[in-house]
Amino acid sequence: MDEKFGPPINSRNSPLTHRIFGLLPQIFTIIAVIATICYITLSDVHSDLYSPDFDASNAVNTHFYDLEGYDGSSEGWLDNERIIFCVPLRDAAAHLPMFFGHVRNMTYPHHLIDLAFLVSDSKDDTMGLLVTMLREMQNDPDPSMHFGQIEIFEKDFGQAIGQGFTDRHGFSAQGPRRKLMAKARNWLQSVALKPYHSWVYWRDVDVETCPPCILEDLMHHNKDVIVPNVWRPLPDWLGGQQPYDLNSWRESDGGLQLANTLDEDAVIVEGYAEYATWRPHLAYLRDPYGDPETEMELDGIGGVSILAKGRVFRIGAHFPAFSFEKHAETEGFGKMCRRMGLSVFGLPHYVIWHIYEPSTDDLKHMEWMAREEVRMQKQEEVMKIYRKVWDTGFQSVKDTWEDEKVRILKNSDPFKLSRHVIVDWSDQ
Ligand SMILES: *[C@@H]1O[C@H](CO)[C@@H](O)[C@H](O)[C@H]1NC(C)=O
Repeated sequence: MDEKFGPPINSRNSPLTHRIFGLLPQIFTIIAVIATICYITLSDVHSDLYSPDFDASNAVNTHFYDLEGYDGSSEGWLDNERIIFCVPLRDAAAHLPMFFGHVRNMTYPHHLIDLAFLVSDSKDDTMGLLVTMLREMQNDPDPSMHFGQIEIFEKDFGQAIGQGFTDRHGFSAQGPRRKLMAKARNWLQSVALKPYHSWVYWRDVDVETCPPCILEDLMHHNKDVIVPNVWRPLPDWLGGQQPYDLNSWRESDGGLQLANTLDEDAVIVEGYAEYATWRPHLAYLRDPYGDPETEMELDGIGGVSILAKGRVFRIGAHFPAFSFEKHAETEGFGKMCRRMGLSVFGLPHYVIWHIYEPSTDDLKHMEWMAREEVRMQKQEEVMKIYRKVWDTGFQSVKDTWEDEKVRILKNSDPFKLSRHVIVDWSDQ
């Protein structure tokens, strides 16, 4: 019966299987040789690194990271180094289109940039617009425009301080405001940074002008923490341009002396007359014709645009939400990094431009200028009439005065004072 149905499917007696089994020793030898060659080749690179085989242990959803592999280098774009781009947002809808214009224009390979947004305390449609713009960007027909992983976090911190320029920039608001912003940054930082990120980039949304290659420009200096100079354009009547970010500075004797006189919880904020520190500010050291590669070591830094290595945060540096050496948030972060022996630098002649954001004072000045113009026009009309009546209205009294003067002086002549004068006090 067996012969009628042909050879059984798994018969060990077929001539072909016989031949394969006969070759088994040779096959094993070849596999062993290949494996040895592979091992020798690979062991040159990862000779003493342990790499657990999770597949073999059947540990589902278990990930292994060799953190030695994610140190940032000066040319990260050649080495597939990933950046986590952190963006804190609060009532930022008005700035998002401009911000996404910058993000799209970035020259660092987009697939190596992951984006993390923290939306907090927003009364406008920051979240809705953000989602719309991200969807648009990630659906771009050109795949090189697509970014890596994108995460949006939402958390309110209960903003005690308003968002107007003067609310935010007034002196008394600075300490509490900076501490709150530090907390927000730490929340975002702690959830956004993944083991495979070599770099962290912090950027404010209200930057108006910025080179598309800023990531490469900052990265190739290969510092632990680095910031550009930040200025803002001004209307002509205010002088054309102005340093914006005064939080990037080098410590001074005056600053240290001031710190010693302050209460333990006090927070020094730069750029206010209340705290004169005489510190050299990155912003004021700018020379428009200076070499953009020039580096300056800093102690405090501003938060408009910070590139830092991931390891800075992994070893514990953060944005202090308390007084650290009398500083908080980004300035405290700079000081903390220095205390931890990390390199903190700024580029005095490499400038990005913040939007011009008129303060209440600026607005008052504009109002005054408008009123002044009206006043000048009115004054001109008055002057015309005045000039017309001047000639007819003016009469010389010089001669009359000469006569009167002689008579007055006669009365006070000392030689005649002894004379007997009779004064008639009667009514007529
Ligand atoms: C992005 O690049 C385009 C083309 O060079 C330019 O017109 C545009 O102004 C840039 N956007 C921003 C926000 O700089």
